[in-house]
Amino acid sequence: MSNRDSVKNTFLVTGLLCIVCSVLVSGAAVGLKEKQDTNKELDLKKNILNVCGIPYEAEQVEQVFTDRISVRLINLNDGIAVTSTPESDQTSSGFALNKLTANEKTELFSDPAGIGGARENYAVVYLYPEKNQIILPIRGKGLWSTLWGFISLSDDDFTTRGITFFQHGETPGLGGEVDSAFFKDQFVAPKQTIGDDGQVILNVTKSGAAGPNDIDGLAGATITTQGVDKLIKFWLGENGFGNYLQSEDRFAEASPSASN
Ligand SMILES: Cc1cc2nc3c(=O)[nH]c(=O)nc-3n(C[C@H](O)[C@H](O)[C@H](O)COP(=O)(O)O)c2cc1C
Repeated sequence: MSNRDSVKNTFLVTGLLCIVCSVLVSGAAVGLKEKQDTNKELDLKKNILNVCGIPYEAEQVEQVFTDRISVRLINLNDGIAVTSTPESDQTSSGFALNKLTANEKTELFSDPAGIGGARENYAVVYLYPEKNQIILPIRGKGLWSTLWGFISLSDDDFTTRGITFFQHGETPGLGGEVDSAFFKDQFVAPKQTIGDDGQVILNVTKSGAAGPNDIDGLAGATITTQGVDKLIKFWLGENGFGNYLQSEDRFAEASPSASN
């Protein structure tokens, strides 16, 4: 065996290769981070335009979004718009949904949506003034994953205008059918979400859309269906955006005095 093929050299070459590869991979991860964040933000904007039914060309997303959509930062505990959060000085101009969820939280007595036992104190909501729509971020546990999405409601009567899930890990063809036109189109047709007593009355159900407030669930995906039902009830309810939806000033800008 020549010296080149010695055990020592083999380990040396393997070790060097590992170091070079890890430097390349981490360098790429760090170098591309900004681009990834930009793309993530662009994807959120596309989802918000989609849930509003606003058409756009791929290269015009930023422009269409800025022209048509307003953004508000809401204190979920009282439903009032604020200019920034006290903990990390987040503002409504950022799309940092993940950072907002890292904000100070309120513990939940019960956690039907499966969001980890606590709900962040601030959230970003989106407004589509031309059509009087409110777009709320929603999330909750399905079978395998947390589903992240947006629901759009009419500001006039809180009937549905659309739903979209921009991130989830449910099985394609089963729970993954939350992305299907069959499922999503049912939310485009106006359905009552909130009853006269303020309770959430929209049901996502496996027993067929029998009633006027029912959304037909997903075949072979009872658990994802139940997850979507629970997460909608949670986020539209008193522990989610309930206070905001009951507030008279839903479309108002935050006044600096209301901050924090
Ligand atoms: C490989 C595999 C993937 C599955 N993925 C999902 C899923 O994404 N969502 C879901 O609710 N159920 C999923 N299920 C089915 C559940 O295990 C469970 O049987 C189902 O929710 C019951 O729904 P059904 O009464 O409509 O059949 C999956 C099952 C298998 C074997």
